[in-house]
Amino acid sequence: MDPLGQPETKPVLNKLRADADGLAAARRLLTEGRLVAFPTETVYGLGADATDGRAVAAIYAAKGRPAFNPLIAHVADLTAAQRQGVFSADALALAQAFWPGPLTLVVPVGPACTVSELARAGLSSVALRVPDHPVALALLSAFGKPVAAPSANRSGRVSPTCAQHVVEDLNGRIDMVLDGGATRVGVESTIVAALDGTPRLLRPGGISRAALEAVLGRPLADAEPETDGSQARLAPGRLASHYAPAARVRLGAADLRPDEAILDFGEQLVNLRPQAKAYLDLSAAGDLAEAAANLFGHLRRLDASGVATIAIAPIPNAGLGEAINDRLSRAAAPR
Ligand code: TXA
Ligand code: MG
Repeated sequence: MDPLGQPETKPVLNKLRADADGLAAARRLLTEGRLVAFPTETVYGLGADATDGRAVAAIYAAKGRPAFNPLIAHVADLTAAQRQGVFSADALALAQAFWPGPLTLVVPVGPACTVSELARAGLSSVALRVPDHPVALALLSAFGKPVAAPSANRSGRVSPTCAQHVVEDLNGRIDMVLDGGATRVGVESTIVAALDGTPRLLRPGGISRAALEAVLGRPLADAEPETDGSQARLAPGRLASHYAPAARVRLGAADLRPDEAILDFGEQLVNLRPQAKAYLDLSAAGDLAEAAANLFGHLRRLDASGVATIAIAPIPNAGLGEAINDRLSRAAAPR
């Protein structure tokens, strides 16, 4: 990506196997300040050298993302994370319990933090995560610096859970995607802010609220509107309309209307299948982890069928259901 983000100068996006050669090429591109999409256990990330403001600017340009929205800095391990941010006892307990894994911790910046101001959107906190994916971890250790990475989709679109999704969204706008197959978790990381004595859930995700609370030994607070009105900056990614397919989305469907496709869960709407324009089940067995892994891919497939509306069966809010319902309510938000 050139620093001004001119997409028309880009060659066709290179999809490389995540073997030794692919990893070496990815590392070289990062060193040159260029963009590389790579697999994590949640979704594919669009990575750049987090310490290089120009490289980070290219991420915002490729995604078409508002520049005030801060990015997660991915690192290889807890030691690397502690060089960037200040870990309270709560933050440390969560990191030790869930890293590598789908948890992002927002902590105060440390004195030796090298994550660029732009990646942090000028905040005095930094979002850190150690992803649980062999390709991501190999790339992070080889590169040796934090990698800023939002999900590798155009801003506002459904997140990518395989390399082909990245190609569909970003072909012509970035240099390469490392192909590590389909992602295991399928929804983004849970984000917890540990900025004071009260850990707060900023975004539900791949680690359930219950699992976090079991480690903390107390309930997790929700993100609260700040008295100075800075809530929009505390969790700016929680925009109402987000993760949006082109089709309209109708939640909690118990019936079928004309020209609708069905996105089912646990075969609740399977009897309506013959009348539906298209039908997919997130998990016929009603398994929430399987549903999370299928969520974005199924939304993309139903969207590609060209239907006007996707009717979605109710999904229980327990465990990973909180993250699934969070993403679905954004997909359904007016836009
Ligand atoms: O699973 C994931 O988290 C994926 C993979 C690629 O790691 N990444 C991802 O990044 O979902 P993104 O950019 O789509 O979401 C990052 C979220 C945004 O909502 C952003 O506002 C929030 O993290 N964030 C980042 N830094 C923050 C900070 N200092 N304070 C509060 N929120 C922050
Ligand atoms: Mg995203």
